[in-house]
Amino acid sequence: MRSLTIRRPDDWHLHLRDGAMMEGVIGDTSRHFARAIIMPNLVPPVVTTADARAYRERIVNAIPDGDTFEPLMTLYLTEGTSPDDLEEGKASGLITAVKLYPAGATTNSHGGVRDFEKAMPALERMAKIGLPLCVHGEVTTPDVDIFDREKVFIDTVLDPLRKRLPELKVTMEHVTTSDGIDYIKSAESNLAGSITTHHLIINRNAILVGGIRPHYYCLPVAKRESHRLALRAAATSGDRRFFLGTDSAPHIDPLKECGCGCAGIYTSINTMSCLAHVFEQDNALDRLEAFASLNGPAWYGLPANDETITLVRRDEPVDFPAKIETGAGTVTVFDPMFPLHWDVA
Ligand code: DOR
Ligand code: ZN
Repeated sequence: MRSLTIRRPDDWHLHLRDGAMMEGVIGDTSRHFARAIIMPNLVPPVVTTADARAYRERIVNAIPDGDTFEPLMTLYLTEGTSPDDLEEGKASGLITAVKLYPAGATTNSHGGVRDFEKAMPALERMAKIGLPLCVHGEVTTPDVDIFDREKVFIDTVLDPLRKRLPELKVTMEHVTTSDGIDYIKSAESNLAGSITTHHLIINRNAILVGGIRPHYYCLPVAKRESHRLALRAAATSGDRRFFLGTDSAPHIDPLKECGCGCAGIYTSINTMSCLAHVFEQDNALDRLEAFASLNGPAWYGLPANDETITLVRRDEPVDFPAKIETGAGTVTVFDPMFPLHWDVA
């Protein structure tokens, strides 16, 4: 196949940041994607509907002229989140989902949830009004090995929560393990999972073999190869419970290339090319549209986009920049370690 036309994709997990960084990266998303779920882990985080309204305004003002792009806003769940504020946010059409960061799990998550009892009033209201919970599914207890944190989260936090609130609609974000895939498949309802571009391509060797490579470090951290293969099988299967959430997370190079580097991989600019490569390798190009453009909107109860994009396979590899320059500094672009021949026309 040399050319593939699909409905315009959406990104169901995106870090746009704010200010100069946002201005430097937003065009890489709005060029290809119609909508994205915007993560709320700013400093300070987006915790109220009023915060989200103001942030949305800043995003809309930064969209490059000529692009149409709809930011879907999320709120950062805290132990003090007001159920009434959530309800108002959903009723006004502003809030698409609420994000759960276990405190300390990742970048700017220290204001997240430590004691789940304290977040129960908000979670109960969400279950009642049908507001989805997007979950960073890792425990943060220091005695749990970082490669086991997703599985332990499923067993000790997510499954008990879903048993307690079966009506709560949960998106397990950036699934990185076969345990996560199996858990999602075993659920009867109200559970789906997003998968990133980079977790379909790298395993943990990318971070650690031949030297330490900070631009492949993200959270949840990439796991061993058998897990990557399970993610590939789920993403390329067409199963409606799995869809794209890039988790594209720009950090400036000095914050990645240092003694204690930040987690995050920047993939917005080449995600569609990477995905076309992955789906082609797995003889599943006919299911790329389901993963990138259909399953996500169906899960969130939104229509698929009417517009389309066309991917073309070029004879020569497509040139993506190794780095982009933003007003906040230089950001390294995800290098899939193979040439990319698919291009968005
Ligand atoms: O790698 C990551 N980067 N994982 C996250 O959960 C957060 C993100 C960020 O905001 O940089
Ligand atoms: Zn993220």
